[in-house]
Amino acid sequence: MILEFCQWLEHTSLGVAIGESLWLFPILESLHVIALAVVVGSIAMMDLRLLGALARDRAVTELAAETLPLTWGAFAAAAITGFLLFASNASYYYDNTPFRVKIVLLGLAGANMLYFHRATWRTVSTWDRAAQLPIAARLAGAVSLGTWILVVIFGRWIGFV
Ligand code: HEM
Repeated sequence: MILEFCQWLEHTSLGVAIGESLWLFPILESLHVIALAVVVGSIAMMDLRLLGALARDRAVTELAAETLPLTWGAFAAAAITGFLLFASNASYYYDNTPFRVKIVLLGLAGANMLYFHRATWRTVSTWDRAAQLPIAARLAGAVSLGTWILVVIFGRWIGFV
């Protein structure tokens, strides 16, 4: 069923227009790279604070309030440009192992973030300004940083398969 959807998608006028254009794909991929750099860069700042490696004198809530809007905005841009790239050759990407691993890793990064904000964050008022944070917060930062680095590695790998 997914393969049929991919075959339908890449034959839509949108998929064909991006796939056959000399400039649309490279422009979309450049925008994708800029967006993902902002996503991963802003998340890394938060993760390094959680790990106690950066901005140890800043309140975690303050840093989150500054970085989260940027992260979500850039994530929306990465998802839209990524989907358009995908639409241009969907059945190829669907069958591409690094692409599949990247999408699974994006899910894992999302689940880690959701658990952190739903569980660990509940006690933030007790460790907001601490230089060294509780193990649950440090673990969330380490898992997040590791997962996003892997997303970039597998994202880059897509074009080499
Ligand atoms: C914030 C989340 C994302 C990150 C960090 C990310 C990361 C990457 C990276 C590092 C590349 C390689 C770019 C290059 O060096 O040329 C890439 C390419 C790509 N990404 Fe993403 N991506 C994200 C979201 C998505 C989503 C949601 C989709 C699809 C639904 C997607 C689809 C693609 C496609 C199709 C390529 C092009 C591969 C190629 O042919 O070179 N990405 N991504």
